[in-house]
Amino acid sequence: MCGIVGVLGKHEVSPIILDALKRLEYRGYDSAGIATVNRGQLDRRRAVGKLINLSDTLVHEPLPGRAGIGHTRWATHGGPSVANAHPHQAGRVAVVHNGIIENFRALREELAAAGAHFSSETDTETIVQLASHYLDQGLTPVQAARATLKRLEGAFALAFLFEGEEDLIVCARRGSPLCIGHGEGEMYLGSDAIALGELTDRITYLEEGDWAILTRSGLQVFDAEDQQTSRPMTRINAAQARVDKSGHRHFMAKEMAEQPAVLKAAMEAYAGAGSEALDLPEGLDFTSADRLIMVACGTAYYACQVAKYWFEQFAGLPVEIDIASEYRYRAPVLGAANMALFVSQSGETADTLAALRHVAPHVGQVVAVVNVPTSSIAREASVVLPIHAGPEIGVASTKAFTAQLQVLALLALQAGLARGRLSAEDYRARLSELRAAPGFVAQALDREEEIRRMTEVLAKARDVLFLGRGVMYPLALEGALKLKEISYIHAEAHAAGELKHGPIALIDEDLPVIVFAPHDALFEKTVSNMQEVMARQGKVLLISDARGLVEAGDVPFTLQMPTVPDLIAPIVYAVPAQLIAYHTALHRGTDVDQPRNLAKSVTVE
Ligand code: F6R
Repeated sequence: MCGIVGVLGKHEVSPIILDALKRLEYRGYDSAGIATVNRGQLDRRRAVGKLINLSDTLVHEPLPGRAGIGHTRWATHGGPSVANAHPHQAGRVAVVHNGIIENFRALREELAAAGAHFSSETDTETIVQLASHYLDQGLTPVQAARATLKRLEGAFALAFLFEGEEDLIVCARRGSPLCIGHGEGEMYLGSDAIALGELTDRITYLEEGDWAILTRSGLQVFDAEDQQTSRPMTRINAAQARVDKSGHRHFMAKEMAEQPAVLKAAMEAYAGAGSEALDLPEGLDFTSADRLIMVACGTAYYACQVAKYWFEQFAGLPVEIDIASEYRYRAPVLGAANMALFVSQSGETADTLAALRHVAPHVGQVVAVVNVPTSSIAREASVVLPIHAGPEIGVASTKAFTAQLQVLALLALQAGLARGRLSAEDYRARLSELRAAPGFVAQALDREEEIRRMTEVLAKARDVLFLGRGVMYPLALEGALKLKEISYIHAEAHAAGELKHGPIALIDEDLPVIVFAPHDALFEKTVSNMQEVMARQGKVLLISDARGLVEAGDVPFTLQMPTVPDLIAPIVYAVPAQLIAYHTALHRGTDVDQPRNLAKSVTVE
């Protein structure tokens, strides 16, 4: 949700900032901009839309300077326009910002009354106007930045650049991530380490409430109480931080194809090749937990919905799940014996983080299942389980979903064993089923060409319905979400048995209905619901295994999945859900990796 970059370089920084912004473009692409200080003067270039437009602008109007800040925007306050694009500037200061300033209206009124002229509709402009006001009062740049930070309420990561200061950037982190990169005589800042992956492998992560002064010779960090403090410098795996499409047409295609390898890596991380005992972090205690509360957003929430079945079935653990943005505003009844588990690919989703903070003081254990182990959610949880999926850049989550499922399945099995609900023999059997998941996922990926052909018809639909029962119901929800977000086709999902309670009224000969139904204990019931759809001329695509397709009889469209154990069916059936969305989007010519209105990392509430 907006990406920010800053560079104090030895050479011209615009190309460096542009390149770093490319790696942050997944955070938003409504507009982009760069400001530099050159010969003491602030100057900036901004353009609406994707980074390529800013890149074109810079060809015609180069932006010299060895100190600069950059931004890629996901619009919150004010639509995508040049005026609303960052960096914002007032007088002698420019700012880039990720987050939301909640008290911006009051500040804006106060500043306007004091004579400030606003040129955008953004909350961010109040930050520069305030800093400019303090500079005019005679404060130094650092003092002005500090005084400004004290007035801001809300969530932000931001960077200040000042006229006449070619060796200074002041930055701050409250609620949104920010890291500092150490170069050879250069310093960098970025919303995440991926942005800086081509520049350095030496990273300092700012803590919540920190602010920092960057110069080419070093970094001074201050905590929320303005006490100078030190934060460790860590070495990151620069190769991992470097991301490219590796010959694939889209990041989404690459990330789907990576799934067998990712699942294998996740399995090996926790259940080393061949070993039986899981290698889980200390502090995870399923025996003392009387209830599991799982909270997440979007795709990660659907992973929780699947996992609820597993924790109940294998561990007899009462499970409550909720959407993070709702959970925070409820008055949940919590207890010291509860375990709260937060699932997030980015580990930065503001709603999930807020829910974690809401719950943490009241429960016994706070566990995070994340893809980014250095993320805010990981830092604030007491136990962290990385999913080992590697950077996920495509806005539509794919490999993170299947890896989340894999790790959650491992946890459910471990919980079952620890609580005496699963015998050692069953536990071993289920574990070996999980070990087989990468191979079955590879087989599911092999159906791509067939799926591509089927989606030619789907791409013409106005609405699509997804159905499933049991663990296939969350899969149906995930299939509908994927299709909506990248093809812009209206899609909804229902528990197959719920159809007759209302949604069946939607069925007519124009409505494609996609049914996920492996041949499991619920198969007969799902197929009966599917027959109800076909009896009303709904165009059904049944996704099942060999036995299911035979028993289902005549169905207009079918897709055969490998025959898999029940436990791993949601992981394997996620693949057609993803491929259907991907190829439908390709037929429609939409932007698969950067669909409209979306951003990868949702750091605003
Ligand atoms: C959908 C998608 C989103 C995310 C959601 C949570 O494809 O990617 O629904 O799953 O925004 O994000 P994380 O997992 O980063 O908390």
